[in-house]
This record gives sequence, C-alpha cells and structure tokens, in this order.
Amino acid sequence: MGMPMPRSGGLSMEEMMKMIEDKEIAKMGFHSKEAVQLMTEVERRAYADRAEFMGDQDFVKVPVKTLSSAKYLKSRMNDFIPGKATPSETVQPGNVNPESEETTHLSVADQYGNVVSVTTTLNGGYGSKTVVGGAGFLMNNEMDDFSVKPGVANMYGAVGKEANAIQAGKRMLSSMTPTVVLKDNKPFLVVGTPGGTTIPTSVFQTLVNILEFGQSPLDAVNNPKFHHQWLPDQLMVEKDFSAELKAEMEKMGYKVVNRGQIGRTEVIKLDWKGKKLQSIEAVADKRGDDHASAY
Ligand code: DON
Repeated sequence: MGMPMPRSGGLSMEEMMKMIEDKEIAKMGFHSKEAVQLMTEVERRAYADRAEFMGDQDFVKVPVKTLSSAKYLKSRMNDFIPGKATPSETVQPGNVNPESEETTHLSVADQYGNVVSVTTTLNGGYGSKTVVGGAGFLMNNEMDDFSVKPGVANMYGAVGKEANAIQAGKRMLSSMTPTVVLKDNKPFLVVGTPGGTTIPTSVFQTLVNILEFGQSPLDAVNNPKFHHQWLPDQLMVEKDFSAELKAEMEKMGYKVVNRGQIGRTEVIKLDWKGKKLQSIEAVADKRGDDHASAY
C-alpha cells in the first residue's frame, strides 16, 4: 500500500518494484555491480515517468493503471543493457496510452499491530521562513514542488513538465512515500523518510535490502545508498559507498558523484505468528538525530 497522487512515491515504488520483479536481484547480491546497475536504471526510468506524467489528479489525468501494469513495466526495461549505462537523453518517458530536503517521517505501531506511516513536509528548511502571527506555525514553500517551467529544475534538481505545472487550486507533486508492506494481509513493514527526490529511492532500496537481500532492518537502513533521478544524468552515492563499486559503475558509463546523506529512513518490522503479534523491531536511521522508542 502506498500513498496516491499527488504523492509520486507510491506509484514510483510500484514501478520500481515491478521493474525488478522478473530479475534475479537477490542472487546478484547486495551492492554487487549488477544489482546497483539494475536498480540505477530502474530509478532512472521511474523518474522519467514522474517528470512526464505525475501531478495532481484533480487537474491532470495520471495514467496510474498503465504506469503500474506489468506489461508496461516489462516494456519499460526493453532497452536495459546489463553492464552498460543508458544515457538519460535516450530514456524518454514511457509510451503510455492515457486510456486506460524540510520533512519529517514517523513510523508507528501498537501492540495490536495497528500501524501508521506518515510523512509531513514544509519543503525547504523552515519552509518559507514565515511564522503565522499569533498561530505559531511556519508557512511552507511547497510551490517549489511544482515545475515552474519545462526543463527547469526545482531545489531538489527534479524537472517536470505540463503535468505538474502551476495552476490555481492544483496541488504540487510530492515525492513523499509513506509505505506499509503487508504480508499475509497483516502489516509487515512500515517505512518512510524525508529527503526530497531521494525519498522514493531510499524507500525502494531499504525495501529491496530487506525483502530481496535478506538484510536486517538496521543494515537495510544504514547501508550506503545511491540515487538516480533521470536528470541530472548522474549516479549519486553516499560517501561510504564502496570505492571499488564506484569504479565499476564508472567503467559501465555512469557519471558517479558523491553527495551528502540520502534519506533518513525509519523502519518498523512486525513479526506475526498466525494472528498473534510476536515482536516489533524499530530502526531509526544513523544519518540524523532520529531515534526509535517504545512505550
Ligand atoms: O513533498 C516533497 O517531495 C518535498 N516537499 C519533500 C522535501 C523534503 O523531503 C526535504 N527534506 N529533506
């Protein structure tokens, strides 16, 4: 389950997960060059679609059904070449028939297995830096989440087109990705993070680390992350990302650049025995002053 438009994260997550569905990613191994390249190309394509199609559904028709269909996502990966970067200029948004960095994330669970995944944002640090007199809260600067004009990047480097253009009464596209993963119809993972455009990739990699690479939530969150958002055409990596792997990626044709932390992901994992909740494991990202507590 993910959030609907105008949060892009739910749909992007579905796209990315389905693009790796038929690949043996667990066998490739965590942070193998094969897995990192595959996930990079998946991220690139999902962000190309985000720029073209996603926006407030009260104003634009977002082809959600097509973008999340297995058939479309299989075709989306037709030009994927293992071991070779596909330049973003050749990766256009998918062929869809329209038929058919300030932010806070909280993951919460109680002893009965009720869960909440919530992300809230002012957009930039202190939003528009304006406090409402007498009310004591800050105004956001969310207008930056609209695409001001085609091809012009916002403060997170994201580009967009008509689908996310400014219009009276329209809501801007968000990357927020509060997510609940169900297993046997019961909440299994509660995930989310701040981080502007790096939000969907942080959640994607955390989930793949747990579900495919069998990592503990702690490792899944704290292991180095990487990020590709179609444009700019570069693979951004955290400073503790392996130098050897970075060199391998460069050999494949990726422009690899170091950047600061990617996300601050909070995960709760719930273990069930039948209908009974056995244990709850909560992890707060090492990247910030985040913490996990129980009451
Ligand atoms: O909704 C969005 O996509 C942005 N307003 C989020 C900004 C953000 O995560 C900044 N925090 N690091």
